Amino acid sequence: MRFCLTVAFSLIAGAALAQQTADAVQPEGATEGAAFATSERVAAAQASKDAGTPVSAQTFMVAAANPLAVQAGVDVLAAGGTAADALVAVQTVLGLVEPQSSGLGGGAFLVWYDAASQSLTTLDGRETAPLDATPRLFQKEDGEPMGFFDAVVGGRSVGTPGTPALLDEAHKRWGRQPWGGLFDAAIDLADNGFAVSPRLAGLVERDTERLASYPITADYFMPGGTPLAAGTTLKNPAYADTLRAIAADGSEVFYTGKIAQDIQATVQALSFNPGVLSQLDLAVYHVKERPAVCATYRAHEVCGMGPPSSGALTVGQILGMLDSYDLGALGADNPESWRLIGDASRLAFADRGRYMADSDYVPMPTAGLVDPAYLADRAQLLDGDAALEEVGPGTPAFDHSLNWADDQSLELPSTSHISIVDSYGNVASMTTTIENAFGSRLMVHGFLLNNELTDFSFRTHSDGVPIANALAPGKRPRSSMSPTIVMKDGAPVLAIGSPGGSRIIGYTAKAIIAHLDWGMDVQQAVSLPHAVNRFGSFDVEEGTTAADLAPALEGMGYEVNVRGLNSGLHAIAIGDDLQGGADPRREGIALGD
Ligand code: GLY
Repeated sequence: MRFCLTVAFSLIAGAALAQQTADAVQPEGATEGAAFATSERVAAAQASKDAGTPVSAQTFMVAAANPLAVQAGVDVLAAGGTAADALVAVQTVLGLVEPQSSGLGGGAFLVWYDAASQSLTTLDGRETAPLDATPRLFQKEDGEPMGFFDAVVGGRSVGTPGTPALLDEAHKRWGRQPWGGLFDAAIDLADNGFAVSPRLAGLVERDTERLASYPITADYFMPGGTPLAAGTTLKNPAYADTLRAIAADGSEVFYTGKIAQDIQATVQALSFNPGVLSQLDLAVYHVKERPAVCATYRAHEVCGMGPPSSGALTVGQILGMLDSYDLGALGADNPESWRLIGDASRLAFADRGRYMADSDYVPMPTAGLVDPAYLADRAQLLDGDAALEEVGPGTPAFDHSLNWADDQSLELPSTSHISIVDSYGNVASMTTTIENAFGSRLMVHGFLLNNELTDFSFRTHSDGVPIANALAPGKRPRSSMSPTIVMKDGAPVLAIGSPGGSRIIGYTAKAIIAHLDWGMDVQQAVSLPHAVNRFGSFDVEEGTTAADLAPALEGMGYEVNVRGLNSGLHAIAIGDDLQGGADPRREGIALGD
């Protein structure tokens, strides 16, 4: 394994691409004006997913969590747009039809492969802690942590949203279609209405008490006090107006002026649990370009998002420890495979909890964490045949002398993942979130505000030792989001990622193993039942063959919990053709041409 700090785009290359965006270049055969995503094509994609077979295409593809969002994306691609153009369409529709998971009020990480320069880079659109926030934001008077939902619901948990700025930055660098037109699908659906999906309706039903805490949110999701039912036609004129403003004037209108004023007022003037996010935080927000973090696995480079995400480092550690074990020979049905994967994950999570945070604020042993010698040493711990009794963080090489205590943050699953390949060969892998389902439950201008600040550790110290992921003004909370592009011989072969809180890491690593070690196609890989171990006990997916592993895993000494495991893996394999897979646990599809 190597730690590959590849800043794929020089500023010069970025500027040149930004210049190109002024001209909407149409490739030969582009279908401007015609909707590619007909109902027949969408139905065929859905049937393919239901049958457990991947969707195939030759030129372009989108895999994401809602068919309406996928349709918007492939229509942009069919009209000659790039993956960066399509991301704007997909994200703005997701913010409408899957508002509980992501949107303008949240943050995102994008891993981007640029075909022209044959290189990778990442954009960090993570939320920031307000400049007026203190490290004890989530502590009670006595210094003890607040209850999780006491912290989540209200203004206190709201970080500066990064998603609008990220979309704008990606479009400026890599877009080809005019910015304004990329919002058309979402504006049309918001004005004219869309059918509430069963998943959205189910989540509203389960969250009525918290949704009721803010009147605008309650009116939208529970009009007249009744939770939205599946199939209801829902309009969002406030969201349409917001999109029209951003379409006309760029993401600046989100970060300054009326929208920013109203975000501040919503967060700060709340009668319960107000927060400190201000217009200044919005005005100074900026997206950061960061090098992709890559790890070698089975002669592939598995590349993703470095700090402030723990995603690429933890996925990379898991795979790095497993690289010397022949999982292919053991097979997917063998409990021994799952012991190795599970304990490699526990070891990686121990390092994650100790060392990983926003490296712009705290020194991190980033290179040491994925040093081959260090991981080979850690991998020896897996040599037995039973569950590890004790798992603690290792001692990777530090280039400084700080010591940290274990992180105490709790992450619950929401979030959404988008994979896109365009007709130019660019690849986008973006995971996007407002953190908890429905975020802070505060709604303004038609979108929900995130609760991302609860991804910080609520405690600042443990036994007097500081915690790396403690809150600080301007800092970005540690994430588990793992948008990934797998490379082989310098070319992308797989785009993948998932929602799922800190289980994102296990879902993503497992799907990569299924594809590379067990030869599964991309739909089989995302559908494969889950067995995830982060902190000691194994979670195995109820109602699937993973639950059948329980007796063997218990025999090895694990506590086993049989439970729902709600990933949302969306993947595209890139070879002679494109093959897309959409997670059967959610409502998305893969679609392309
Ligand atoms: N809030 C989910 C994550 O960033 O991991």
